[in-house]
Amino acid sequence: MPPSNSEFPRPLAVITGASAGIGKVFARQLAERGFDLLLVARDAERLRALGDELSLQYAISAETWPADLSRDTGMRTLAEKLAKDERVMVLVNNAGFGTKGKLANRPVSEQATMLELHVMAPFLLTRAVLPGMIARRAGRIITVASVASFTTSMGNVNYCATKAYQRVFMESLALELEGTGVHAQALCPGFTHTEFHERMQIDKTKGIPTWAWLDAERVVRASLDAAFGDGPVVLIPGKRYKLMVTALKYLPDFLKHAFQRRYAKSRV
Ligand SMILES: NC(=O)c1ccc[n+]([C@@H]2O[C@H](COP(=O)([O-])OP(=O)(O)OC[C@H]3O[C@@H](n4cnc5c(N)ncnc54)[C@H](OP(=O)(O)O)[C@@H]3O)[C@@H](O)[C@H]2O)c1
Repeated sequence: MPPSNSEFPRPLAVITGASAGIGKVFARQLAERGFDLLLVARDAERLRALGDELSLQYAISAETWPADLSRDTGMRTLAEKLAKDERVMVLVNNAGFGTKGKLANRPVSEQATMLELHVMAPFLLTRAVLPGMIARRAGRIITVASVASFTTSMGNVNYCATKAYQRVFMESLALELEGTGVHAQALCPGFTHTEFHERMQIDKTKGIPTWAWLDAERVVRASLDAAFGDGPVVLIPGKRYKLMVTALKYLPDFLKHAFQRRYAKSRV
């Protein structure tokens, strides 16, 4: 990465959901690669601590932007800021959450929040950075979807649906971006050690075998290597998950649904 000065400012990586989990690891690995950072999440204190740590350790600049991206003002204000910033080279749409329980029993507001955060926010932020990236012929847009984007599941109705939106959004966009110098990626991890399951109050030791868990460091490294190399648009980290997704494509529906009923028991 070139040294930064007023003529050649360092490129900027924007990470949503940077206060914890996969987003926090993206922040660290992008700082390691020499990017300045814009760290976005709701928890201002955690963002500030991370920004201070990374700017000191990697001699980069880290701005924090506390915002609730499920709110109209939160996502639109950030989108306006990004549209004006010529340094944006990487956008990681990562902020997200899961819920458990049947849709009919979940609060409408909670599920609507998921749709805003997983669908509207990535759309608006991506749309905001695209014209600048295309004009500069450089950019990477990574949206953290999930292997859930390939599945249907009880207790996970809107999660699967919104993750499918994110994957298809990136896949279609990648086609439009061919030859522009801008790359889109749908990162589709399986179970990954972060705060995600604790926040949902799911006991990680029950129902999910140890081999199924991925390490966030490796997930993010695979994503960035693919995004800056010649990697696939849909990135599924781990051989087992690649195999599982391939199997899901070819299994007859009755077998797929039997598997999904069994897996979903802990969620409903
Ligand atoms: N962990 C897994 O097994 C797994 C598997 C596949 C895909 N994913 C996806 O990976 C992404 C990151 O999840 P994670 O596993 O790293 O979970 P995590 O550790 O719980 O982190 C979630 C991040 O999203 C932020 N966030 C949540 N709601 C937000 C909102 N309304 N506005 C702004 N930021 C918000 C949180 O920060 P604040 O609380 O500070 O706002 C936090 O930084 C999600 O999109 C998730 O669906 C996770």
